[in-house]
Amino acid sequence: MPSKLIIFSLLSAFVALLYQTLLRDVLFATMGLGRTLQSVSDFPYKCHRIHGDPNIQACEDMWLDEASRTLFLACSDPVARRDWMPNIHRLNASGRALHDHVVALNIDNPTSEGGFTYRVLETPGFSGVQGDGRIHVVGITGTSLPSEDGLEILLWLVNARPSVDVETGELLDNAVVGPNLTIDVFTTKPDTDSMKHIKTFADPQIATPNNIAVTKNGSGGFFFTNDHGAHKVGWQHHLSPVLATGDVSYCSADGVCKRVASGLRFPNGLHLGSDGLLYVPSAAVGGITVYQPSSDGTLKKVHYIDLNYPIDNLSEDANGDIFAAAMPKVLKGMTGFDDPLNTPPAPATVWRVRRLNRDVKEKYQYELTKVIEDATGEVLPSMTTVIHDALTGRLFMSGE
Ligand SMILES: *[C@@H]1O[C@H](CO)[C@@H](O)[C@H](O)[C@H]1NC(C)=O
Ligand SMILES: *[C@@H]1O[C@H](CO)[C@@H](O)[C@H](O)[C@H]1NC(C)=O
Ligand SMILES: *[C@@H]1O[C@H](CO)[C@@H](O)[C@H](O)[C@H]1NC(C)=O
Ligand SMILES: *[C@@H]1O[C@H](CO)[C@@H](O)[C@H](O)[C@H]1NC(C)=O
Repeated sequence: MPSKLIIFSLLSAFVALLYQTLLRDVLFATMGLGRTLQSVSDFPYKCHRIHGDPNIQACEDMWLDEASRTLFLACSDPVARRDWMPNIHRLNASGRALHDHVVALNIDNPTSEGGFTYRVLETPGFSGVQGDGRIHVVGITGTSLPSEDGLEILLWLVNARPSVDVETGELLDNAVVGPNLTIDVFTTKPDTDSMKHIKTFADPQIATPNNIAVTKNGSGGFFFTNDHGAHKVGWQHHLSPVLATGDVSYCSADGVCKRVASGLRFPNGLHLGSDGLLYVPSAAVGGITVYQPSSDGTLKKVHYIDLNYPIDNLSEDANGDIFAAAMPKVLKGMTGFDDPLNTPPAPATVWRVRRLNRDVKEKYQYELTKVIEDATGEVLPSMTTVIHDALTGRLFMSGE
């Protein structure tokens, strides 16, 4: 009898543990069970959707350059995402979009149709995949610095290149060999309609890159999340959010890359704050892990922000507030992926994460405010990124 009792109590402890560590997160945070959602009309925003423009579709990520008042968007083709989206194991390279591009939107220059004037940036001279000149955009970030003739803008792209046979240039079976993601850096200027390639970072550690956070103090290194760790394909890829094999890695300016944090569940659009801290959200279970980086890129975990929503991407506004694009019902977002043009949109929520007493060293206190929520997803369908323009109070949101 006692042994049975021990087994029983061990079992229930195990179940309780499983519930504590995983099931609770999956049911309540990931799937949003029991979460009541508010509608857009509860919030003081007037929303306007820019759609129907073939140049501005499937813009998964964007970056606002405050200095030139330009919003840079990484755009693709929503239908092709179903075939080619290595971050979620869509590895049919022959179905990939062939016209991915970066759009530069002049946010202070509205048009009479309710949009904004914009430029689609050409990439003259960029070799792309075996000379095809193409980019395959996933994430984008940037820096801008004053230069002799105005402003020098650097754009950093997560580029989802398919793997090819280096001899023949033929596509390999990417579901078997895995895609060949790189981080590509381009330079551009305000009001020009092209961007010039300056560097490719390719490294075994750049395996499943999701998004990039560049150090802005001239060191030239950058952090990025591998949302599935080192696992580009196979069951390890699928189970990565469960096994927590996602990581944060760091590459120095001269291209030496290393893993600096591990054990993460689908780490996503990370952000290096103006307070010097690195913020890493989870798209699987929510929450934001906060790290203190040191000059060689190593990280020390200093805090965890318990925000119970799966989070896509983080951005910071000119006031130092962080804005998080969250998915209150993540399963609805996933179904929209397969048939983006005919599925009802997924709900979306934006949270503002404000660090209180940010001048006090080693004090990590955050105020969480729900800024807007769209229960039906009609206004903010399947949003993946949000940017707050502190100057005008506008929110820009984009999605797949
Ligand atoms: C891959 O994409 C191509 C082009 O869109 C399509 O014809 C083919 O059926 C796809 N293959 C699979 C396995 O989905
Ligand atoms: C958040 O943005 C990154 C790139 O910036 C993108 O790869 C990721 O898919 C987005 N989140 C989701 C789950 O769509
Ligand atoms: C991956 O991309 C890098 C950078 O362009 C290239 O040198 C390498 O040959 C590519 N590998 C494959 C397998 O496509
Ligand atoms: C540059 O920024 C990185 C990351 O925030 C930090 O670790 C490093 O100490 C900074 N270096 C200098 C010289 O300020």
